[in-house]
Amino acid sequence: MAQLWGGRFTKETDKLVYDFNASISFDKRFYAQDIRGSIAHVTMLAGQNILTEEERDQIIEGLEDIRRDVENGELLITEEYEDIHSFVEANLIDRIGDVGKKLHTGRSRNDQVALDMKLYTRDEILELDRLLKSLLETLLHMMKEHTETYMPGFTHLQKAQPVTLSHHLGAYFEMFKRDRSRMKDIYRRMNTCPLGAGALAGTTYPLDREYTASLLEFDGPTLNSMDSVADRDYLIELLSAMSTVMMHLSRFSEEVIIWNSNEYQFVELDDAFSTGSSIMPQKKNPDIAELVRGKTGRVYGALMSLLTTMKGIPLAYNKDMQEDKELAFDAMDTTKGCLALFTGMLATMKFRKDRMADSAKHGFTNATDAADYLVNHGVPFRDAHGIVGQLVLYCIEKGKALDDLALEEYKAISPVFEDDIYEAVSMKTCVEMRNTIGAPGKAAMDKVIAQEEAYLIAE
Ligand code: ARG
Repeated sequence: MAQLWGGRFTKETDKLVYDFNASISFDKRFYAQDIRGSIAHVTMLAGQNILTEEERDQIIEGLEDIRRDVENGELLITEEYEDIHSFVEANLIDRIGDVGKKLHTGRSRNDQVALDMKLYTRDEILELDRLLKSLLETLLHMMKEHTETYMPGFTHLQKAQPVTLSHHLGAYFEMFKRDRSRMKDIYRRMNTCPLGAGALAGTTYPLDREYTASLLEFDGPTLNSMDSVADRDYLIELLSAMSTVMMHLSRFSEEVIIWNSNEYQFVELDDAFSTGSSIMPQKKNPDIAELVRGKTGRVYGALMSLLTTMKGIPLAYNKDMQEDKELAFDAMDTTKGCLALFTGMLATMKFRKDRMADSAKHGFTNATDAADYLVNHGVPFRDAHGIVGQLVLYCIEKGKALDDLALEEYKAISPVFEDDIYEAVSMKTCVEMRNTIGAPGKAAMDKVIAQEEAYLIAE
């Protein structure tokens, strides 16, 4: 048991208490951020003549040696230390002696941990953004390929009107694009440096907080020392944004599962991205999509947990806040993993254009267009709606699609129909007539694709 305090204690910490309190098993993952923050701190301390230049250099060299030894496996981060901050400081003192004891001048673990978590989270946001961008690139590539792949669009999971696969995928493009912009917002809002806030009330040393902030690439220092050590808003925001990413991935997964079902057969999953059954030889299951859908609950859970943890905490730092880490780390790992796997699954998925077009044709997805045809020939829309309703009923009785009826059958229900009805209700016409901004027609879709392409180049 190695801890940084003990002077005012007359007894050893109870072993159970020590273990309950310790965080090294999970905060060891930000050793590099802890060392980076310490290097910036001593650089600033020397700049302010609080440390000499020799002391600064010795400490920095010691810290860099620790980082190197951890990275090449020579130094193990073991649980005999309470947390990563204790581990680094104790190792530094072992290596360079008494001068190492000056590292913590003008600093508390409260502002130190606030800094480490922000440094770690900033990198995670950039990685999440990179993964989202790669998903968007995959989507855009597929969108370009499928501007004329017709499929039914659904409402209430009932066939509604025909769309294209490009258009359907484009809906997800918009969702993940918004997710990226949320990442950017969070980064911008959180990018202030808490170091120098001390335990809660700043310090009596003449720290140059602006200098420390610039060394660590923050936009500036935080402006209230109590808030600096007590703020976890940015984690709640990130958990919320990741929950939204997961919600989008989960909806998409649900569609993949439906499309992959025996009844639909719109898609075929790549063998590398599906799994079999131990008993049923014929099975090829969409486990990746199911797991992504399932893991969404975990990320929502982390958001609810942290909101609940924070709600009763008086200012400033309280130990409750140590609970932020396992939650946030698990949610970050889960979201990143799901994004990477989902993108791989999507990129290797094959679409069965024949099944999709056939499904669109057989669900009366062109009924609205048949009604529009009548309207264009002078029939009021409400009457046209009724006439096409009768036609649909007739088709259901005969087991036919609108496209398959003879002109006499059309005329028996309304004399307004002429030969050009066939073109009016063809899948191609139904989609290609819809060309307002955001609609599935190829001309409209091509414009959107060009716009999204420019966005991916710019950002
Ligand atoms: N392990 C702690 C955490 O994650 C570090 C800060 C400890 N500060 C303290 N006063 N005990 O929050």
